[in-house]
Amino acid sequence: MKLWSGRFTGKSDQLTEDFNASIAVDSRMYRQDIRGSMAHARMLAKQGIISIEEKDLIIRGLEEILDEIEAGKLEFTVEAEDVHMNVETFLTQKIGDVGKKLHTARSRNDQVALDVRLYLRDEMKEIRVLILTMQQVLLDLAREHLDTIMPGYTHLQKAQPLNLAHHLMAYFEMLRRDFDRLDDCQKRMDYMPLGSGALAGTGFNLDRDYVKEELGFSHLTRNSLDAVSDRDFALEFCSFASIIMMHLSRFSEELILWTSEEFSFMEMDDAFSTGSSIMPQKKNPDLAELVRGKTGRVYGDLITLLTIMKSLPLAYNKDMQEDKEALFDAVDTVKKCLLVFAPMLQTARFNKVKMAAAARGGFTNATDLADYLAGKGLPFRDAHAVVGKAVLYCIERGKSLEELTLDEYRGFSPLIDADIFSCLDVKACVERRKVPGGPAPEKVEQALEESAQWLRRMQND
Ligand code: ARG
Repeated sequence: MKLWSGRFTGKSDQLTEDFNASIAVDSRMYRQDIRGSMAHARMLAKQGIISIEEKDLIIRGLEEILDEIEAGKLEFTVEAEDVHMNVETFLTQKIGDVGKKLHTARSRNDQVALDVRLYLRDEMKEIRVLILTMQQVLLDLAREHLDTIMPGYTHLQKAQPLNLAHHLMAYFEMLRRDFDRLDDCQKRMDYMPLGSGALAGTGFNLDRDYVKEELGFSHLTRNSLDAVSDRDFALEFCSFASIIMMHLSRFSEELILWTSEEFSFMEMDDAFSTGSSIMPQKKNPDLAELVRGKTGRVYGDLITLLTIMKSLPLAYNKDMQEDKEALFDAVDTVKKCLLVFAPMLQTARFNKVKMAAAARGGFTNATDLADYLAGKGLPFRDAHAVVGKAVLYCIERGKSLEELTLDEYRGFSPLIDADIFSCLDVKACVERRKVPGGPAPEKVEQALEESAQWLRRMQND
């Protein structure tokens, strides 16, 4: 029998039951649902709303239910609709009528607002660790590649030489912001909603602060109507998830390019590559491609949630039950992608020779030639024009800037001396860029040191 069937005379159509039920999706919150119910029951007893004996019976019942669910001994039913009513049904089956007292001064509306928060808090802890693990991989790799020269690109055209360490640390920075965003989202989620009831609170004398402390929240929600209607925290999580996926998709795209024969900057380990069913020679970067593709799912999850919440009148509406599928998908996808990305990256081999050779082509040192002239007093705009001419001259003759003779250079500008050749060396070009945040190895080393300290702080947090 339905827990809400009192007002009904007719039976639910099976179609209604199936359509209305969310247990297939929300059953994964059973631990959080039970944790929340235990805190609620303790508070009810503390306030004299139920007796100590009743509370003990309820707590013991819930503990057993938790064990039995984990052991696979209890089966959720569609008839009981969602995780909240499934657990309550198990409880009443187990301890009898006392189980029916658990829902005193509570609604599924504040209950689900609590459960999703507790669930997301648990998942966010795991995601934090996954982000830090990936950052550790980046940091370790960067340490190895301080002198691995590579071309930097804009418009996917060779721009200026860099080292791989600096390039990898760019992703470290992105993940650091993602990590901050997650923390920030956690801050606004850290409000305990129980006591809000269906929408209008309750006349029972609850101790909300007690429940807050029991469940490890920092604050109480301040408005019962808002508390049961708010899914901002889920939206913020999906925004975080979308942004980190966007970062991973950019990295994936680069890895896909870099593993192509045309670039040949790196090779994935066999353990993190796949073959083709028809072309025997193939080694494909499928994992990176999948991460890139899954970014689309997570954007979809964010848009799903935003669209579900759009224009909903206060307070709870059943539309909101649809939030979980999108939210859980975002959680699962981000976790899976981070989990596979870290070892995929860690085991990849970089081809230093190819990278350095690529850095030497494409006139990546042209800016340095212009800077050289500007350093000798030529206005930068004029220097830019002179170098443009020199580059054109080289292109016509199939030469690089380093291959011009001093006489040829003198033809472009009398300011050029023999020291131009050491100036044009791509390694020197990188080493010269000593501005804070620049790619000079000594600056990257400083960045590595600062990043390592930050990482250690977060890992110990
Ligand atoms: N399964 C529901 C959800 O996830 C729980 C809240 C239902 N409340 C209600 N009044 N129907 O949204």
